[in-house]
Amino acid sequence: MNIMNRRSFMKMSAGVVATMTSGSVFGAGESTKTIRIGVIGMGNRGRSLTKHLFKLPDVKVPALCDINAENLKQGIELVEQISGQKPAAYLGDEYYYRKLLERDDLDAVMICTPVGWHVPQSIDAMNAGKDVGCEVTAGDTLDELWELVKTKEKTGRHYMMLENYNYARDRMMVQNMIVQGIFGEPYYAECGYIHDCKNLCFNMDGSLTWRGERQRDRYEHPYATHSLGPVSKWFGINDGDCMDYMTTMMTSPRALHLYAVERFGADSPAAQIAFKRGDYYTTTIHTAQKKVIRVDFDMMSYRPLDYFYLMQGTKGVYNSRTRIIDGIFLKEDKDKGGVHYVNASDYRDKYEHPCWKKFASVAAQTGHGGGDFFTLKDFVEMVRQDKEPWIDVYDAATWSCISHCSKLSMDGNGQPIKVPDFTQGKWKDKNWRKSAGPVC
Ligand SMILES: NC(=O)c1ccc[n+]([C@@H]2O[C@H](COP(=O)([O-])OP(=O)(O)OC[C@H]3O[C@@H](n4cnc5c(N)ncnc54)[C@H](O)[C@@H]3O)[C@@H](O)[C@H]2O)c1
Repeated sequence: MNIMNRRSFMKMSAGVVATMTSGSVFGAGESTKTIRIGVIGMGNRGRSLTKHLFKLPDVKVPALCDINAENLKQGIELVEQISGQKPAAYLGDEYYYRKLLERDDLDAVMICTPVGWHVPQSIDAMNAGKDVGCEVTAGDTLDELWELVKTKEKTGRHYMMLENYNYARDRMMVQNMIVQGIFGEPYYAECGYIHDCKNLCFNMDGSLTWRGERQRDRYEHPYATHSLGPVSKWFGINDGDCMDYMTTMMTSPRALHLYAVERFGADSPAAQIAFKRGDYYTTTIHTAQKKVIRVDFDMMSYRPLDYFYLMQGTKGVYNSRTRIIDGIFLKEDKDKGGVHYVNASDYRDKYEHPCWKKFASVAAQTGHGGGDFFTLKDFVEMVRQDKEPWIDVYDAATWSCISHCSKLSMDGNGQPIKVPDFTQGKWKDKNWRKSAGPVC
């Protein structure tokens, strides 16, 4: 039986049951189908997302996989506690997840493993007939990102990168305002992800975690997706515009070594490690429609959490870094004599995104300012409705490839690098993708 037939058969035979949701914000009487999701990777993120999955109606988690017995045990207990059903456990070597993929009672898998595993696991899952929701970033190298796109196209399965920063309340409102033309045409953006995560690079004994190993072995812009994701949607990247070329610079690594000395001592093995990855990155992207996006990144420096977005349009600007936090300044206000930013929340009544209007209360119970809820909702609806997601494989590859391209740029002292077009020209038609936006 080929993959498509096997999947259709699976959906019919393995009990995709039509059920009625139990009311609440999802709407009494709304008919849905139960979907079954296996989770690979039960670390911090895997457990957090799995917990939030159960905020959505008619979702089951029949199987979990990890290479770490303790993390897997915690995951099993979590699912059993919330759902009352004990999931099957897959504990083995790094390829043991393939056993989970052999199950014929899973509609999809959610992948929450370290970044280096994302492409192999996503490809194996799609080849096994499963839809995929995969954590950020989609992958490391251009070769593997192309393979990811080709596998999605070949298998016809659905793939969503679980980029949650697109779904935050004000970013969704800005999305809505752009669609309505309130900002005019967007043409310049600044965005950045600044998050001191030095502590996540070391285990208690001073050995490196997978994040620390990447700090030691790699030096590309680690990931742009949290910043670039919202901006790409605002700019219509892959929907009428595409990234054309880019350059990157980084400061040399300082902070993690100093942290290792302070935490483990100057003579400790941790303090002898030569890290390759720099502290602060700036990438500048030029688009085919002659727009510019600046993307900053820093997970090492001593400073408070700061993710920021500035989107300049011909009729106004959204700027999360004004003194009043998340400010908006519109030409129409200036024309009325106003010269100050207005707090973005003052525009809520008029421009709140329909998804937030409907689900704000339940979203507020999940992580990342409610973004996790809408991310999972889009993932689940992709599977349930058998449709392409808003953040699809083309966005995943485009946003993720900034890492690889940044390495090439820095190898040439900041030389401009052509950004690959994973849509192969389809972006020129701004309506080529079927998904108009998040599922509300
Ligand atoms: N979107 C967000 O806001 C956000 C936040 C945190 C982490 N993340 C992403 O989530 C992913 C996981 O991060 P984390 O913080 O949970 O890391 P973690 O180290 O806490 O968890 C990773 C888990 O994967 C398991 N694992 C490793 N290789 C495996 C394999 N081959 N098969 C099965 N399991 C394997 C590990 O044993 C561990 O339990 C990363 O890709 C990270 O970038 C995203």
